[in-house]
Amino acid sequence: MLLLANAEAWPGFALTVEKLRAGADSIEAMIAGISRVEVEPKVRSVGYGGWPNMLGVMECDAAVMNGTTREIGSVGAVPDTIPVAALAHAVMKGLPHVMLTGAGARRYASEIGFAVDDVLIEDSRRVWRERLEAELGPEQFARFPDLPLAPLSRAITDPERVRDTTVFLSADAVQGIHTVTSTSGWAWKYPGRLGDSPIPGAGFYADSRYGAAACTHTGEMTMRCATARSIVLALKLGRSLREAIELAVEELAELEHGFLGGVVIHAADAQGRHEVVNFRCEGEIRYWLWEDGMAEPELRPARTI
Ligand code: GLY
Repeated sequence: MLLLANAEAWPGFALTVEKLRAGADSIEAMIAGISRVEVEPKVRSVGYGGWPNMLGVMECDAAVMNGTTREIGSVGAVPDTIPVAALAHAVMKGLPHVMLTGAGARRYASEIGFAVDDVLIEDSRRVWRERLEAELGPEQFARFPDLPLAPLSRAITDPERVRDTTVFLSADAVQGIHTVTSTSGWAWKYPGRLGDSPIPGAGFYADSRYGAAACTHTGEMTMRCATARSIVLALKLGRSLREAIELAVEELAELEHGFLGGVVIHAADAQGRHEVVNFRCEGEIRYWLWEDGMAEPELRPARTI
């Protein structure tokens, strides 16, 4: 068994490891771990710790993929809901659909007993309001939100505040290879914006026969390149894990227009190898790893490419 997650997974990684050691279903174990990340306000890109959209509303994205059956559950731009990865899992198990968004996702959450919770903590509300007030000035702020938001989306975007996520990936010869993602998305995003975390093939993809990939940071790039699916398809076509990632990175590097930033790719193959690669993200990127035989999870540096 191998378990991989990005550095933001710290509140829940050990719980997932504990459950895997006890023989739990690996998707259930990852959902349990990611739910801990979602309720930790110190993780400033997921759940309670995340940032609201331009209107000051939290809209979260999450997804689950079973790489053995290729079943997926995904939710996007869901208001008033935590835990969202668990909601995505419920979509996978309870509906003939892959993805629910917005009000429909919230409606389904209520039908299956998820509490209504605005997810917006006071610190995030304050930072959002101060940022908006500074950008608009008193007259325009008094009119808010009755003004066009699109110009504002360029002005108040704070690219380094967050386009992060938490991603978990498990790989096991018996249980298969699976992924789970969760994020509040891009701080101050235009309402309704989806990142890559709920988009199959962009922010995540798993196929137990070949491997899996999950991405963090700039969803606006991985959605354009179908990064996670490209990696798994390259594995299927016989490329090594390293070659498959290099192919996906080449595609990201070819983008010249539109919003460009960094991407971190977390990937594993069906032979139990893993790679975590930093493409153009500033600062040291690290990730969590636990494999059979390791006494404790390790926080390791990503390879910069
Ligand atoms: N990768 C997270 C996002 O773009 O929302």
